[in-house]
Amino acid sequence: MEKINVLFNEEEILKREEEIANSLYEKFQDEEVTFVCTLKGAVFFACDLLKRYKGNAKIEFLRVSSYEGESSTGKINLKLPLKAENINGKNVVVLEDIVDTGYTLSYINNYINEMNPKSLTTCTLLDKKARRMVQIDPDYSGFVIDDLFVIGYGLDYDQKYRNLPYIGVVEK
Ligand code: IMP
Ligand code: MG
Repeated sequence: MEKINVLFNEEEILKREEEIANSLYEKFQDEEVTFVCTLKGAVFFACDLLKRYKGNAKIEFLRVSSYEGESSTGKINLKLPLKAENINGKNVVVLEDIVDTGYTLSYINNYINEMNPKSLTTCTLLDKKARRMVQIDPDYSGFVIDDLFVIGYGLDYDQKYRNLPYIGVVEK
């Protein structure tokens, strides 16, 4: 197995998630919030964040994927849609694992806005700000990271490593 360098350990991740959960609760108080977890990468983030969220929460799942290829075209495939009735008129908080070029999050924002939520808030665990191709800034982000390919805690390389309890970088 490859050597993996730890970037954020489980304790650091959970502490940051608790902070974000508390900020979200300050914002929404006792209003109902529908969290939209993007599959598969944000599953670990969504579970741990939601366990720390003190408000009134629902959870929905959405799956999109970028087209495979040498260069990022920004074309997104919708693999598992949301039901409009679960979004219309709701306070929606999107939970993403990582924002890189920004194409995926900007697609998700447009897709959800078409269903007329009451409000739309975006939240990502990791933000590779330097790689942005479209102008989009998540409302909440766990950690801003350099241009590194990271794995673990939901994030994969070829569908592997999602089950690591920390976020790491494969040593070259
Ligand atoms: P974007 O559309 O370029 O912002 O890409 C977002 C998606 O690319 C994420 O939801 C991930 O699935 C994937 N991705 C981007 N960077 C990484 C990484 O460092 N590790 C694992 N997946 C990544
Ligand atoms: Mg993803």
